[in-house]
Amino acid sequence: MEQSKIEDLLRQMTLEEKIGQLTQITGDFYSDKAEERTGPMSQLGLNEDQIMNIGTVLGVVGAAECKRIQGQYMDRNRLHIPTMFMGDVIHGYETIFPIPLGLASSWDTGAFKEMAQVSAEEASVSGLSAVFSPMVDLVRDPRWGRVMESTGEDPFLNGKLASALVKGYQGEPGDLQDHFNKVAACVKHFAAYGAVTGGRDYNTVDMSEQRLRDVYLRGYRAAIEAGARLVMTSFNTVGGIPATGNRHLMQDILRDEFGFDGVLISDFGAVKELISHGVAADETQAADLSIHAGVDIEMMTLCYMHTLEALVESGAVDERLIDASVLRILQLKNELGLFEHPFRGADEEREKEVVFSEEHRAVARRVTAESLVLLRNNDSILPLKESQSVALLGPAAQSPDVLGAWSWRGRTDRAVTLMQGLREHALACDASIASKVRTTEERCDYFIPTESVVAESVELAKRSDVVVLALGELSTMSGEASSRSNIRLPKGQVALFNAVHQVNPHIVVVLFNGRPLDLHDIEAADAILEAWYPGTEGGSAIADVLYGSVNPSGKVTMSFPESAGQIPIYYDEDNTGRPYEQAPNEKYVSKYLDVSNYAAYPFGFGLSYSRFTYGSLESSGNGFSTEHPVTISVNITNDSDVDGVEIAQLYVRDLVGEVVRPVKQLKGFQRVALAAGETTRVDFELEENDVRYVHLDDSMHSDPGDFLVWVGGNSRDLSEPIRLHLE
Ligand code: IFM
Repeated sequence: MEQSKIEDLLRQMTLEEKIGQLTQITGDFYSDKAEERTGPMSQLGLNEDQIMNIGTVLGVVGAAECKRIQGQYMDRNRLHIPTMFMGDVIHGYETIFPIPLGLASSWDTGAFKEMAQVSAEEASVSGLSAVFSPMVDLVRDPRWGRVMESTGEDPFLNGKLASALVKGYQGEPGDLQDHFNKVAACVKHFAAYGAVTGGRDYNTVDMSEQRLRDVYLRGYRAAIEAGARLVMTSFNTVGGIPATGNRHLMQDILRDEFGFDGVLISDFGAVKELISHGVAADETQAADLSIHAGVDIEMMTLCYMHTLEALVESGAVDERLIDASVLRILQLKNELGLFEHPFRGADEEREKEVVFSEEHRAVARRVTAESLVLLRNNDSILPLKESQSVALLGPAAQSPDVLGAWSWRGRTDRAVTLMQGLREHALACDASIASKVRTTEERCDYFIPTESVVAESVELAKRSDVVVLALGELSTMSGEASSRSNIRLPKGQVALFNAVHQVNPHIVVVLFNGRPLDLHDIEAADAILEAWYPGTEGGSAIADVLYGSVNPSGKVTMSFPESAGQIPIYYDEDNTGRPYEQAPNEKYVSKYLDVSNYAAYPFGFGLSYSRFTYGSLESSGNGFSTEHPVTISVNITNDSDVDGVEIAQLYVRDLVGEVVRPVKQLKGFQRVALAAGETTRVDFELEENDVRYVHLDDSMHSDPGDFLVWVGGNSRDLSEPIRLHLE
């Protein structure tokens, strides 16, 4: 529809109709079962006419259901404006991929794009037009349950992965209009939700403006630059003002500086929560603050519907502000082609073919294998040999709980468990091998394994060459509102580990979890494979890696602490005035008395069945400038007889800045495939632009002077640095 027609439509709308567009409710209100409708409708005090005026719907799916609702809605809506369906498709729709923190371990922007493409296809054919992803909150505290939904602790990597997701969901600019297998992306949660104090969900965020802009906002900005059409506010405060009512954040930064012209939606209930936060006395003030902050859509509370009309009448809110919001929403619907095609991609027949198709599952299996991280592999116990007898034990061995939080449409009954994955692998090799993978009759509990299951496990372990012990967290232990103060494995699992270890020390632990854990309780394991929540194809992908048909290549994107006492722990920390490394034997240096300063598994760490060695760094010059980038080169050799993939990482340190600079910062990475024995030269380009940061006056520029540059396989074990000068 032409822009002028959208503007005409806006002119015809009553104030009540406009405010309806600014509200989002869940699908329950549109149920065709009266009893389901009346519950939520009476709770919120909405009548049928009002719900046919509300602009967008959360959490309804299914082509038939979306079409039914849209049909009724458009008949009843005076101006026949279509509604729009949005939902939480975070790591897949029905074909579930690894949790984002897991998939991030692949450092594969292509894998992220593919996940988003598959998700968009499944979601759109099932009626959705927008998904609440990517989640770009930078995370440094594994106690926070939502780290599983993030891509980790690094702003540079987060930005690249977020941008890949946006492109995968939305396609090329303009595609949404007629490519109905694409959906609009919603970047969340603006801003800095990942920095909640103490890792406790919904808690306060307080940091300097410099840090906010330089570290925390970079990922959101990258997603917005990639073209994301929506942004969601966060639940937390930023600098004492809840994000949803934070005019500085939303207007000055998001709209004016970042140039975001799409739709800003609140998180669920966040407008009304301004009252609980204590910055609004009532719904009127909450609406006033939010609309002035620029929040276009209020999700699931009715402050706008209850009070905006009066606020306009009293002159407290200028109706032009409301018009601007409505226009953005209508424009989004128009960009999605909804005026001409209100059902958009929803198609019952195609839905059956597309959703959870063999093709999508194959993509999931391939990228899931890339997300697995080999944290330890003493004496090359892995890969397993088909001739070995295996005792597959532990609570996650047979558990279908492999999808992880935020897999709303995922079906655990169709997910491949570890047991199924190993058995299928064995059967594919040789039926006689399948009998070599044995597990307990009794399922093992995550918290209190019974005496009998422990005894059965010990018996099996005694009679097997190797033990694969599947441990971890239930998926409900991470995700929203699932913070933990203790990030160790449950005690019952540690007891099981110890009991098994007494009879068979050849233990390969496979971990299913949504956050970095403190793993010191299983220090005696020979191998640890971090599987995260691997999704629908988890068991198959893990079997591929355990038996070596896929060589692991994942590297963690969030530091695993030695102990929770080190939290927050992240690789790109600022230098102190008394750095430990300069005087490790001194008392008055920055350190703990009882634990090291270092992560057990640092950012960027992950092993392979190959062995990679790095040569000395070379550079194309001694320095770089705005006009002249510098190329940094290194030879990487696969010094083993197994083909593999190495993720080579480039780190830089700005030696003197106006603001203290981090001890190192990721500035480049490449996934490099190396055949056994092969050497490849890898080039990284460093530009002046790459070392810009936010200065005290909020300007983004670089500091002339010297920089140290490293390349290596993780943030800790790096080559000797070279020193480069920036003119
Ligand atoms: O998208 C989510 C958000 O991340 C947390 N609160 C609810 C929203 C909609 O379901």
